[in-house]
Amino acid sequence: MKKIGFGLIGTGLWGEMHAKVYSSSSDVEFKAICDLREDRAKEIAEKYGVKDCYTDYKKLLDRDDISAVSIATPDFAHTDIAVYALNAGKHVLIEKPLATSVEDCKKILSAKSENTKLMVDFHNRWNPPFVVAKTAIENGEIGKPMMMSIRLNDTIFVPTNMLSWASKSEVVWFVGSHVVDLTRWLFNDEVHKVYAVSRSEVLKAKGVDTPDFYQAILEFKNGGVATVENCWILPDSLPTVIDFKCEIIGSDGAVYMDVSSHRTIQKYTSDKASYPDVFVYPTIHGKQMGFAVESIKHFIDCVVNDKTPMVTGEDGLITTKIISAIRESSKKGEPVTL
Ligand SMILES: NC(=O)c1ccc[n+]([C@@H]2O[C@H](COP(=O)([O-])OP(=O)(O)OC[C@H]3O[C@@H](n4cnc5c(N)ncnc54)[C@H](O)[C@@H]3O)[C@@H](O)[C@H]2O)c1
Repeated sequence: MKKIGFGLIGTGLWGEMHAKVYSSSSDVEFKAICDLREDRAKEIAEKYGVKDCYTDYKKLLDRDDISAVSIATPDFAHTDIAVYALNAGKHVLIEKPLATSVEDCKKILSAKSENTKLMVDFHNRWNPPFVVAKTAIENGEIGKPMMMSIRLNDTIFVPTNMLSWASKSEVVWFVGSHVVDLTRWLFNDEVHKVYAVSRSEVLKAKGVDTPDFYQAILEFKNGGVATVENCWILPDSLPTVIDFKCEIIGSDGAVYMDVSSHRTIQKYTSDKASYPDVFVYPTIHGKQMGFAVESIKHFIDCVVNDKTPMVTGEDGLITTKIISAIRESSKKGEPVTL
């Protein structure tokens, strides 16, 4: 079968994950990459055997031999590229969040035609514990899902060291978008009211002007209530960069998940303790495995076999609406109805 031409825009930390998957897929001809940082684009091109490099995304998107692209630029820099890509008739896999304003999400959605696919990379829908929980809920094993407590927190390393653009985003966009999507998916319902509180102290004092945390209560239309917690100030001494937990309580049962500190493997060296990743993107006998890889493979499958992605642009828009309501509520100090 003829391979399909793919491209990648944004070759930073997470863009490299897309490069790994595209370069190892037998369905993909990984043709070109783009990054504002020419040296980084060249490094990734060489590492993954990509012939063409650009610093201007339009040059990549103007090519007729590229049918699909990933956009892995910073949270606030998705919209213009996505609109241009969709207008050029490309299928688009876009990193989460779809965009950081409802208006921008709508611009992206209106650029999409019936012939193009748009997927947001909410890869936790491929994360095994959440998939098992979703199946249990769908099978009625815990009765009606009523309460959820979900937290996805990062160590302070993420906003102060890992992301050069942390002050242009927020924890509620960067990781909150994952958990807000999970609450909708697991409850199979939509949020109608939000109450949230946020504080800005620790990171601001370190010169990174972004909130330390958000705590939000999401009320769903069918009565479910989710408490959502996201912070960016956990100490660096944690054995994992993320702290990810979820408890779902139903009318007839419960599911508890410890998705980060699972202690499946604990490593102790002379200077530190760590729990190496075995679920997100471990390398197994030279191959990239894990649920972060599965979501990107799903996009390839959708493009190759003309399927609708499991996470659509509409999912991205709804998540951004909820996060915008969380931010508004925390500023006003009162609930916001969607
Ligand atoms: N799915 C996940 O769990 C996950 C994990 C990390 C990051 N992300 C998401 O991936 C996206 C990228 O994050 P990252 O951590 O890789 O950031 P990064 O800063 O490491 O990389 C972003 C890259 O985009 C490039 N860039 C910026 N504007 C550009 C433009 N107009 N044209 C071309 N290149 C441009 C930058 O030069 C940089 O190399 C974000 O939306 C982030 O939320 C997702």
